[in-house]
Amino acid sequence: MDKFIINGGRKLRGNVNISGAKNAAVAIIPAAILAGGVCVIENVPQINDVTIDLQILRHIGADIRLLDKSTIRIDTKHIRDTAIPYEMARHMRASYYFLGTMLSKFNHAKVSMPGGCDLGDRPIDQHTKCFKALGADYTIEHGMVEIAADKLTGTQIYFDKVTVGATINAMLASVKAEGLTIIENAAKEPHIVDLANFLNTIGADIMGAGTDVIKVRGVKTFKGADYSIIPDQIEAGTYMVAAAATKGDVTINNVIPKHLEPITSKLRKIGAVIEEFDDSMRIMGVDSYERTNLKTMPHPGFPTDMQPQFAALLTLAKGTSILTEGIFDNRFRYVDELRRMGADISVDGKVAVIEGVERLTGAPVKVADLRAGASLIIAGLCADGITEIEEIQHIERGYENMDLKLRALGADIVKRKLPDAIESIATAI
Ligand code: UD1
Repeated sequence: MDKFIINGGRKLRGNVNISGAKNAAVAIIPAAILAGGVCVIENVPQINDVTIDLQILRHIGADIRLLDKSTIRIDTKHIRDTAIPYEMARHMRASYYFLGTMLSKFNHAKVSMPGGCDLGDRPIDQHTKCFKALGADYTIEHGMVEIAADKLTGTQIYFDKVTVGATINAMLASVKAEGLTIIENAAKEPHIVDLANFLNTIGADIMGAGTDVIKVRGVKTFKGADYSIIPDQIEAGTYMVAAAATKGDVTINNVIPKHLEPITSKLRKIGAVIEEFDDSMRIMGVDSYERTNLKTMPHPGFPTDMQPQFAALLTLAKGTSILTEGIFDNRFRYVDELRRMGADISVDGKVAVIEGVERLTGAPVKVADLRAGASLIIAGLCADGITEIEEIQHIERGYENMDLKLRALGADIVKRKLPDAIESIATAI
C-alpha cells in the first residue's frame, strides 16, 4: 500500500519527457495478435495497464521480450483461443479490446467483463452491437462475455453515442471481415488514429480514422512490423496544468502540440503563457488565474481525462468556475478530497461549481481513480504543507514514474511504502 507524500509550495521548473500514450498502447498491444509476424513496438509507457496487457498476451501464448525500457518485441505465432479470466481483465477497461482482436483472429473470444476506473455507468452495448452487426452472437454469463461467429461480414455500424472503446473494437473486429465495414459516428481521439496507423502498417486497409466515418476493407493476411506509439496527450496535459498551477516554468518534450490544443487554449484563456515548438511546449505560470467555464466533450473537445486536473488548478483561480462533465456520469469523486484541502466546490449531477480560494492546505487524501489521482497530486504540489496521497495504485495504472518526473522538476514528493506488518494490521481492521 504505497502512498505519495508531497511537501507543497515549490514551483516546477525544467524539462520533462512525455511517455507513449496509455490509451494507444492498450489498443495496439492486443492488436499485435493479428500480426502475421513479429512486432516491435517502441515508445511503450512503463505503466501498470501495459504490464497487465502483456500478462494477458502471455496468458494466451505470446512470446514477449523487453528490448529496452520502452521497446517490446511481441511474437504471437503460438497464441491460442483461450479465455481471459476475471483476475486479469478486472484491472483495466481496455481488456475488452481482446474481444475485438480474438474475434478477428479466431472467430471466437471469451473475456471477463472489463474493469477500469469507476466513473459511473459504463455499459458495453455499443461494443456488442458492432460485434452483432458483423455477424457474431454473444452471451454474458458468469461475468464472462463470449462472442462467436461462423464468419464475419463487412457491414454498416452507426454508434448511438460517440465511444472511443467501441470505435476501437469495431476496427479490431472488422479488419478481416469480408468486404467493407463503414463505422459512422466514430470517435476521433488521437489514439484511434494511432491504432488505425498500426493496423495499416501490419497490412489492414483502414481509411478515415480521425474523422467520424471510418471505412475498413477486410483483408486476409497480416505481417509483422516496427511501430512507435504516439506521445500521451493526457500525461502531457497533466504536466502542463501542474506547471501552470505551481506558477512554474516547464518545457514538455516529446509531444504533438496539435493533440494538446483544447488544453493549451484553456490554459491560455485563464492566463498561462505557452510557447509551442515542433515537438515540445513551454508553459510559464502566472501569479493568479482567471475563472473559466469548461465542458468535457469527445475529441477535439476538451478531454474528460483532463477535467479533474483542471479542477485542481481552478480551485485557486479568481472567481467562480463551472465545470460540466459531458462524458461520464460520476467523474467528481475527487471533489471531497479537494475539499479536505480547503477547496470550495459544490457538485450537482454533472456540474461542479468552483469558488476560487486564496490557498489550499496539505491533508491526507485518498485516490478514487486514475485522473482523480493526478488532480490530488496537482493540488498537493500547490498546497501549503504536507499532503499524503493514498491508493496511488490508480495513478500508477496510467502515469509512468510520476514521482520521479516531478522530483526532477523540483517537486518535493516521495513514495512511501507502509511496512508489511502495519499494512496487514491496517487491512485487518
Ligand atoms: C476511453 C478512454 C478513457 C476516456 C474515455 C473518454 C481508453 C482505454 N480509455 O474510455 O480514458 O476517459 O475514452 O474519452 O481509451 N458508452 C456506452 N455504451 C458503450 C460504450 C460507451 O453507453 O458501449 C458510454 C460511456 O458510458 C460513456 C461514453 O459512452 O458515457 C464514452 O465512453 P467511451 O468513449 O467508450 O470511453 P472508454 O472507451 O470506456
